[in-house]
Amino acid sequence: MSPRKQIILGAYLGGVNHHTAWWRPDAGSQIDFSTFAHTARTAERGKFDFFFLAEGLALRERAGQIFDQDIVGRPDTLPVLTSLAAVTTHLGLAGTINATFNEPYELARQLATLDHLSGGRAAWNVVTSFDAFTGQNFRRGGFLDRAQRYERAAEMIEALRTLWASWDDADLVADATAGRFLGRRDAGAFAISGSQFDIRGRFTVPRSPQGRPVILQAGVSPEGRDFAATHSDAIFSPYGRMPEAAEFYRDVKARAARFGRAPEAVKILPSASFVLGDTEAEARERYEHLRREQITGKTAQILLEQVWNRDLSAYDPDGPLPDVEPDPDAPPIIQGRALVHQDRVATVTRWREIAESKKLSLRELVIDQFERGPFVGTPTQVAQQIDDFVQNDGSDGLIIGSHLVPWGLDEFVDRVVPLLQERGSLRAEYTGTTLRDNLGLPALPRASGRPA
Ligand SMILES: Cc1cc2nc3c(=O)[nH]c(=O)nc-3n(C[C@H](O)[C@H](O)[C@H](O)COP(=O)(O)O)c2cc1C
Repeated sequence: MSPRKQIILGAYLGGVNHHTAWWRPDAGSQIDFSTFAHTARTAERGKFDFFFLAEGLALRERAGQIFDQDIVGRPDTLPVLTSLAAVTTHLGLAGTINATFNEPYELARQLATLDHLSGGRAAWNVVTSFDAFTGQNFRRGGFLDRAQRYERAAEMIEALRTLWASWDDADLVADATAGRFLGRRDAGAFAISGSQFDIRGRFTVPRSPQGRPVILQAGVSPEGRDFAATHSDAIFSPYGRMPEAAEFYRDVKARAARFGRAPEAVKILPSASFVLGDTEAEARERYEHLRREQITGKTAQILLEQVWNRDLSAYDPDGPLPDVEPDPDAPPIIQGRALVHQDRVATVTRWREIAESKKLSLRELVIDQFERGPFVGTPTQVAQQIDDFVQNDGSDGLIIGSHLVPWGLDEFVDRVVPLLQERGSLRAEYTGTTLRDNLGLPALPRASGRPA
C-alpha cells in the first residue's frame, strides 16, 4: 500500500468572486492590512503550507458595465505578500502574477527580494491573462494572442531562472581578513535572448534562500497543462470534484512524466471551499442558504453568459435553461474572467442533460455547476472527505477559500485541522523553514559550479 499522502494546504483570500459573501455586514475589508494579516496568521496557526493571492489587473465587465463584486477592490500582490513576511514565520507566500504584462528583470528582482525577506517562502503563480482586454490598462493594449502568451510565459520563466541562477553561494562569501567581498568577477552576469526578450547585464539580487521561488501555474487548456508539467512545481486547478479531479490529476502527472519529470514534482492543488455544521443537516442547510445568497438570479445569468457568450438577461433565472445555442464566434460578452469551460457547445449540451435529469432551473443549474468542490458536513465528515479526496488522488492538497473574509478560515483551523492532524495527514508542526520544505519538493542544487 502506498504511504499516506501529506495534504498540502493553501489559504486563498479573494472576495472578488461569487464564492465570497463580500456584501455581508459581518464581512471585513478586502484591502486592509488587518484582513491579510489575520488570514495569514490563521493559516499559519493551522500549519498551512502557504497563503495565496489571485490577481486581477482589470475590473471585469459585462457588456461594458463592471461586475458588482469588483467594487471591493484588489490591491497589488507583491507589497501584500512582502508585508505578510513580517508577521509570519513559516507560511509560504504565493502570488499570482501575470507573465504577459511584466518584464523579467523587474519581476525576478521582486520575487527574489520576497524570497530573501521571507527567509525562503516566496512562490509565483504564473498566469498569462484571460484576454487582450486586460492589456488595455498597459502600454500594450490588446497584446499577444493566446498561443504567444504561453510562448512569452515560457521565455519569462526561463529568463527568471537564468537571473536567479546568476549568483551562486560563492558570491556571498566575504573575506573578513581583507575586509572585502570575494565575489566572482561575473557575479550576476546574464544574457538572455529569444523571441520575447533581448536583455543582458548583471542581476542585483544574490541567490535567494530557496535558490529560486516555488513556481505555480493556473491554466487548464492542453497548452496550459503542458506548460505546468514542464515548468511548474504545482498547478492551481479548478477541478475540486471527482471524477474530473482524478482525471486532471492523472493527465498532468502523465504529462510531467513525458517531459522527464517525476510525477510527484508537480503538485496538483484545486481550489476548494467548506461549510461546517454541528450536524450534517445543519451544515447542509447553511450551505444551501449560502449558495442562494451567492448566486442571485442576476449572477446566475452572468455566469451562464460567460459560456453562452450571448446576452441572457431576458431569460427568467427561475425558468429553464436558455433555448438558444451558444455563440462561440461573437466578441466576448464577458471581459476579464477565466473561461474554465473551454468548449462552449459541449458544455451547454451537458448542462441541458443535467438540468433535464435533475429538474433544475437556470439558477439552480448554476448553483449546481459553478462550484469549487465544497466540503460540507460536520468537522469529522469534512476532515474525512478531504482526506479521502487527496488519498484517492483527486489532488495533492487544496487551496482553500472561505466565504467570509477574513474570519471564515478560523472555523476550519479550529475544527478541521486538528482532525486532519489526528489522521496523520497534516503536519502537527512545521519541520523545515522554506516553502520548498513545506511542500516536500526536492532541494535545488546549491552552487552553480562555475569557477570563481
Ligand atoms: C484556477 C484558475 C485560476 C486563475 N486565476 C487567475 C488569476 O487570479 N488572475 C489571472 O489573471 N488569471 C487567472 N487565471 C487564468 C489565466 O490568466 C489564464 O486564463 C490562463 O493562464 C490561460 O490558460 P489556459 O487557456 O491554459 O486556461 C486562472 C486560471 C485558472 C484555471
